[in-house]
Amino acid sequence: MSEDRDPGAPPQPPVEDDPPRGTDRGDRLHTFHGERLEVTWSRRRCIHAAACVMNMPDVFHPGRRPWVIVDEGAADSVARVVTRCPTGALQFQRSDGGAPEAVPTANTVRVAPHGPLYVHGDVVVHDESGTRRLTDTRVALCRCGGSANGPLCDSTHNAAGFMEPGSLGTPPADRPTAGDGTALHVRPERDGPLHLEGSFTLIGADRVSVQVSGVNLCRCGRSANKPFCDGSHRRRS
Ligand code: SF4
Ligand code: FES
Repeated sequence: MSEDRDPGAPPQPPVEDDPPRGTDRGDRLHTFHGERLEVTWSRRRCIHAAACVMNMPDVFHPGRRPWVIVDEGAADSVARVVTRCPTGALQFQRSDGGAPEAVPTANTVRVAPHGPLYVHGDVVVHDESGTRRLTDTRVALCRCGGSANGPLCDSTHNAAGFMEPGSLGTPPADRPTAGDGTALHVRPERDGPLHLEGSFTLIGADRVSVQVSGVNLCRCGRSANKPFCDGSHRRRS
């Protein structure tokens, strides 16, 4: 539990076998080649939010094989649309000297109504044992408790009928914990909440926002004070 961690401890450094930025550990990516850039897609991180399809239907066309044809769009436009994929399922690599995706200098966590937490920033997701699993700028985190790929969202909230409007409610007044000043570390606790370590802006679906530096967010779907953890995970249902 977070209470056991030393808040002054330095962030965990990358280790040799950390997956490359943008790749979830153990994931199998689909690669689509173009003349000026290459796009990769993660089936297990895609929750079919369809931002790509709506923004560039010539390039991203779910009924077609292959469903992504990179050269149907200008390289800069394809890259821009990829960066709007809120889950990080889409990534790009330029081969024409174009700029890579910028890592934001500020972290935000947006609560989706009836859905996940969308994180945007310099994000490091750990597994329950504390091992780095994913470093990325875009991540969707499960808050319904049903994902088979937790702590990432896998769209189970739709089938599960998760209904939660995503308003901020009452932010907890408990002690903040120190982050490293830049990266936002997501640490899922075993049978417990998501511990977010680092500074970020939390934005509710009601557009209320608060500055947070270290907080526990609900990932079992049972808190009466969502998106915050209220200890309900300890109750046996
Ligand atoms: S924007 Fe990302 S999550 Fe949404 S459908 Fe496209 S690839 Fe999937
Ligand atoms: S919030 Fe999407 S699977 Fe739980």
